[in-house]
Amino acid sequence: MSEQSLDLLLNEMTLDEKIAQLMQLATPFFKGSSDNGEITGPMEEMGIDESIIKSTGSVLGASGAKEIKAIQKQHLQDNRLGIPLLFMSDIIHGYKTIFPVPLAIGCSWDLQLAEKSAEIAAKEAAVSGVHVTFAPMVDLVRDPRWGRVMESTGEDPYLNSEFAKAQVRGFQGNDLTHDINRVAACVKHFAAYGAPEGGRDYNTVNMSERELRETYLPAYKAALDAGSEMVMTAFNIVDGIPATGNKKLMRDLLRDEWKFDGVLISDWGAVKEQIPHGVAEDGKEAALKAIKAGLDIEMMTTCYVDHLRDLIEAGTVDESLLDEAVLRILQLKKKLGLFENPYRGADEAKEQSLIMSDEHRQAARELAAKSAVLLKNDQVLPLQKQQEIALIGPMAESGDILGQWSWRGSREEAVTLSEGIKTKIGPDNLRTAQGCGIESATEAQLAEAIETAKTADIVVLALGERSEMSGEAGSRSNIQLPQVQLDLIKAVKQLNKPTVAVLFNGRPLDLHGVADQADAVLEAWQPGTEGGNAIADLLYGDVNPSGKLTMSFPHSVGQVPVYYNHFNTGRPKDAPDAQERYVSQYLDSPNDPMYPFGFGLSYTSFTYHDLTLSTDSLTFGQPLTVTVTVTNSGQTAGEEIVQFYTRDHVGEVVRPLKELKGFQRIKLEPRETREVHFTLTEEQLRYHHADLEFTSDPGTFTVYVGPNSKECLAKSFHLSH
Ligand code: BGC
Repeated sequence: MSEQSLDLLLNEMTLDEKIAQLMQLATPFFKGSSDNGEITGPMEEMGIDESIIKSTGSVLGASGAKEIKAIQKQHLQDNRLGIPLLFMSDIIHGYKTIFPVPLAIGCSWDLQLAEKSAEIAAKEAAVSGVHVTFAPMVDLVRDPRWGRVMESTGEDPYLNSEFAKAQVRGFQGNDLTHDINRVAACVKHFAAYGAPEGGRDYNTVNMSERELRETYLPAYKAALDAGSEMVMTAFNIVDGIPATGNKKLMRDLLRDEWKFDGVLISDWGAVKEQIPHGVAEDGKEAALKAIKAGLDIEMMTTCYVDHLRDLIEAGTVDESLLDEAVLRILQLKKKLGLFENPYRGADEAKEQSLIMSDEHRQAARELAAKSAVLLKNDQVLPLQKQQEIALIGPMAESGDILGQWSWRGSREEAVTLSEGIKTKIGPDNLRTAQGCGIESATEAQLAEAIETAKTADIVVLALGERSEMSGEAGSRSNIQLPQVQLDLIKAVKQLNKPTVAVLFNGRPLDLHGVADQADAVLEAWQPGTEGGNAIADLLYGDVNPSGKLTMSFPHSVGQVPVYYNHFNTGRPKDAPDAQERYVSQYLDSPNDPMYPFGFGLSYTSFTYHDLTLSTDSLTFGQPLTVTVTVTNSGQTAGEEIVQFYTRDHVGEVVRPLKELKGFQRIKLEPRETREVHFTLTEEQLRYHHADLEFTSDPGTFTVYVGPNSKECLAKSFHLSH
């Protein structure tokens, strides 16, 4: 279908048909779905009548080739102009083959594998009939109380941007029209959803425009530069105005400044939520604000279908705003080839052969192993196959390791840690006991665990959070493991056996009571379908741990937000002339996190030496080369993530103490040495000034290279303009 025919189609549409194109409804509304249009509960109260459903533009949450084909077929008969539906779903870190949660994927620092995981997710979703995924979620996060940190790749703008691009490439490929194994991406949640006050979901976001542009916006922009077809608005306010009705954010920034011409969708119910936010009197005003601000699709509330007609007829809204929005949706349908092939990739036979294939599971296993972070190891790991293991804890035999956004994943098909270990070492040297539930315990459970541990050479404690304890609406004010699990560790520790804690959780935790008790701590996150196998690979040294944290682990929730790229303050605690009291510090806690950004151990050790700069003066158009030598100084081959940071010592506005500018994942055999090079250009030193101009300042900078954000070699240079 040509662009001209789209205009003709638009001309043929009635006002009501155009308005309904902007409506997104959940699957149960549609004939052909398993609910077959029989809706109940709150959905019934939405008052959607059949004429709207027949003209609706898109469907939320359908999946499965059979169901999607049936809905589409029925719709093509019912829709007066035969306009196909768009099917959109949340395919966040896998469709059925579930990869680790995005925060874990971040910790892999492996952009190729991240891209591959998105490609596999797209493939499985596409054969199941899905056209658009509500991913990647690229919200920068600094507060582990917020449950959705597990959906983000972490606290760094540069790294998040790299992952944003990798995921968009993986989902969309290079030719969305012809490559029916791909799905369109929808970057979310625009903007700054990851900065809610107090870490409470949906809460107020309050920051300057400069901070927004400098820190929070780059990852969304990167996703758009990589071609993301859609953007989803956030639930929160940005500078006092809900993102979903925020003209400055959508029309001015996204459309005019960034030239985004794809489809903008609200988050679930967010158009109507402008009423409780207190910026709209009623649904009519909410619709008015959203359409004026540039929002195309309204997800799951009915302000547009209820009020746009009146607003247009009264002359309050220009019909051209509606036409623009409809055209963008039709263009996306065209780009996906839906006018020619409304069923696109949906294919029952391929669903059988492709979904959860060995190849997909293998990729999930590899990524899960690369995502886990070894936080502590007092010479107890790797385990030996001949050791007798007591595997104890609520996560030992739990399939709840997929994370909260694993909608189509099945816990029953997930490999538990116990299964993973058994497959590796056989049943003879493994004893398992639950010890306690996630948040409750009985005396009998504890007694059984202690008996089991007594006979073993080593105890592996499998601990963590239920998936509902993080994710959307999963904020916690206490980010320790639940008390029963801390009690379990203490009780086991009294046996004086070497003890390893393996953690399955969706956020950085306060690890007091864990890191001080266990001899080794492995952060496994929510590792996905192949979790048990991947963690067993790490525990037994078949894979050497290489993940590094992309979000700081605080000492306590009282330190939050704590992140590596913070400012110095006027009274830094570690200044040579710092006073004892009147410095920026806590009386009862260090300033630094327990485990900093970039931190992660290996079964081998890497030494960094000979940091050199090709010049000590950088100018426009004359890049500088940073060279460091890294040696594997241990006995085992291993992968190291070499990190490269800079500091701008004097800016017009204050500048972070460190900013990540690059990294490389390298593999070194024992005693192997490698030179690693990074290039630094003047462009990489630019930042947003007080007037929002994005430029660099001449002056002194320091380059840091090291194994994490804390322990780096340093060298200074001068930038002149
Ligand atoms: C979430 C989004 C998600 C949407 C559709 C919302 O509640 O915030 O991330 O894409 O639901 O399922």
